[in-house]
Amino acid sequence: MDTATKNSEKVIYNQKYNSLKELFDDYRKTQRCLAAFNVNDSYDLKAVVEAANDMDTNVMVMTYPPVAQLNTPEVFRSMVDGFKKIAKNEIYLHLDHSTSVELCKRAIDAGYDSVMFDGSQLSIFENIKQTKEVVNYAHERGVVVEAEIGKIMGRGVKVKSDDDFLADVKEVRLLNYETNVDLMAVGIGTAHGFTPTEPKIHFDRLDEIAEAIPTPLVLHGGTGIPDADIQKGIQKGMAKINIGTIVHTTYMKNMYEEMTRAGDGAYPPFIMENVLPKIKSVVKDRLAAVNFW
Ligand code: 13P
Repeated sequence: MDTATKNSEKVIYNQKYNSLKELFDDYRKTQRCLAAFNVNDSYDLKAVVEAANDMDTNVMVMTYPPVAQLNTPEVFRSMVDGFKKIAKNEIYLHLDHSTSVELCKRAIDAGYDSVMFDGSQLSIFENIKQTKEVVNYAHERGVVVEAEIGKIMGRGVKVKSDDDFLADVKEVRLLNYETNVDLMAVGIGTAHGFTPTEPKIHFDRLDEIAEAIPTPLVLHGGTGIPDADIQKGIQKGMAKINIGTIVHTTYMKNMYEEMTRAGDGAYPPFIMENVLPKIKSVVKDRLAAVNFW
């Protein structure tokens, strides 16, 4: 979307689509991006839903595998369905960073809208093989699949050299066309979690990747990326951004403070009614950075 068109159009963050796939394809074409937040339970889920309501935007919530396993994908699906009753716009549910084909299939059976198979630590051939298995299963059931190539640093991900994490363009093309995946997460220098220094994002590599494939791209490691870099990434093809650490650290830190204050009398709903607005506030702040068009 060129600037003139953008300025002349009413800005909408809550456009309705027939499917999530259609939304992502359109977002890639029009340089827009769906913000996706890692959540853990009904409290941070509620904070995200309320933040999206205040900002009048569609949003995605994601469960990491331990969260999906602890709550079960079936219960998490029901929880999101419950919150959809108070949501003004779309709330999509995604399984994040599953290295297990079986867990992806279970989430698909439970009705997740989207799953990520993370084969980034595998050889390219094994990554293709396992991603393809997930894609075949998902597409028969109308579910979107995200693949990963290159590495998102942090959290124990091993990198062998200074640029070992960067997605290789030939491999991106191969993974894309061999699997027919819907979303592609690419290693371009971002890291999960807070980083001691600002991550150096390789926008030159992002340009090459965006030129090589039309598939909507995914920016991981959303915590700590400056707003200007997020927005540059979106203009270059990032149609989904993942934001996690800032959500759970805000949750844990504020809960700890509230519990310390309450001492032995700590009672969950009284603790959470003070914590929830804090989570909601950081989610709104990140939504404002992503929904900038
Ligand atoms: P952050 O924890 O850095 O926000 O990254 C989240 C993420 O990329 C989840 O897939």
